[in-house]
Amino acid sequence: MSLLRLDKLLADAGIGTRSEVKAYIKKGFICVNGTLATKPDIKVSTETDQITFHGEPVILNDFEYYILNKPAGYVSATKDNTAPTVLTLIESNRKDLFPVGRLDKDTEGLLLITNDGSLSHRLLSPKRHVDKTYYAVVEGIVTTEDIVAFKNGLEIGDEDLNVALPATLTILETDNHSNYSRVHITIQEGKFHQVKRMFQAVGKQITYLQRIAFGPITLPDDLALGEHRALTQEELHALQTCV
Ligand code: URA
Repeated sequence: MSLLRLDKLLADAGIGTRSEVKAYIKKGFICVNGTLATKPDIKVSTETDQITFHGEPVILNDFEYYILNKPAGYVSATKDNTAPTVLTLIESNRKDLFPVGRLDKDTEGLLLITNDGSLSHRLLSPKRHVDKTYYAVVEGIVTTEDIVAFKNGLEIGDEDLNVALPATLTILETDNHSNYSRVHITIQEGKFHQVKRMFQAVGKQITYLQRIAFGPITLPDDLALGEHRALTQEELHALQTCV
């Protein structure tokens, strides 16, 4: 059950801005389960509490959750002046959708899109260590030394924190003749260009990157590049309970 601050819930429901709804609470316009609400910061349940504004039930905005198979060339943002955003691929009337985190413009694969800020925040929190798995084609031959280096936590020259958390690298194929490798890599964070920077740290370049899993959600085989669909109840439940 998700609990929200009363003023946030009222703002999310379109009753007013945060400061307007605080004023409505002060003026005694809001009741929770028949009792006058006096504080904006009380926690209310979106499922079980009856909230009214001037005696009328407050209808909560429904959240929407999509999985998109992002193609290259799209920017993971709500607005961009240089290229189309991932939101242009989503069929929805909602104006408040956003991508959960970022994939680089040239990265493909699994991107979650929602208007549920609280869930997104939890999924992206550096403290939660939600696994993200990528398929990558790498120029050069990935070695067992690289696997160990990734496992030990690599220096990737991040300004705040120099060492990436341990990552799991699995070699799928190496081709000495053409000098490339295909790998799976699972990371626990989402630093800027993280996977590319980790391979750069071992002297290798990524030529193709695709996200294939985010926490418990995997990219469905039947979701073509550029297509999206709503998350199933099972997928949503798995996502909500992993953080
Ligand atoms: N790591 C990267 O380098 N790029 C992405 O798009 C995602 C993870």
